[in-house]
Amino acid sequence: PITNKNYPHRIYQPEDTSYRHHGIIFKDIFSVLLEPRLFRNLMAVLEERVRKMCPGVQAVVGLESRGFLIGTPLALALDIPFVPIRKKGKLPGKVKQVSYTLEYGTDVFEAQESSIKKGQKVVILDDLLATGGTMKAACDLITAMGGEVLLCLVCIELLDLKGCEKFSHPFDAVVKFS
Ligand code: PRP
Ligand code: MG
Repeated sequence: PITNKNYPHRIYQPEDTSYRHHGIIFKDIFSVLLEPRLFRNLMAVLEERVRKMCPGVQAVVGLESRGFLIGTPLALALDIPFVPIRKKGKLPGKVKQVSYTLEYGTDVFEAQESSIKKGQKVVILDDLLATGGTMKAACDLITAMGGEVLLCLVCIELLDLKGCEKFSHPFDAVVKFS
């Protein structure tokens, strides 16, 4: 269960985040979002980790789409900008791109050119780390744009997939499953 010192009660148990579909067990944060108390507590844990691990952080980068759900309230709580990374063709204006590998094929991530300043210190936030391909792509894109990745932070890490070995930036996960 997730706990922190301000909210010492149980937040949720691993089985609350799982459901089965075609033999695959999904770990999913939407069950947390259904309950405002749990959602608030999850945001408090994320905020506490960023405040502790990332002094001087200047922006929260959220990854489309589930990373947006937690990235925007975190940026508000920290009173710093929220920067979206989106899938190809959805952001207006000039964009920077990076290609990344999925289980089947490739995809492209984009960020608006002006959204990251040179030397800007960021935390990259997503709901889940599986193979790590998505987070690696985000790290590569932010670094190519001149940003500095202080921390890659997720709610759920699937340990068996060893996704965090795909990138070298500091990494933290609120709950880990194996
Ligand atoms: C899911 C999840 C992570 C990513 C993790 O996103 O939200 O972003 O997969 O997988 P990886 O570590 O193997 O790259 P998905 O691409 O399904 O899109 P969504 O967030 O829009 O649902
Ligand atoms: Mg996603």
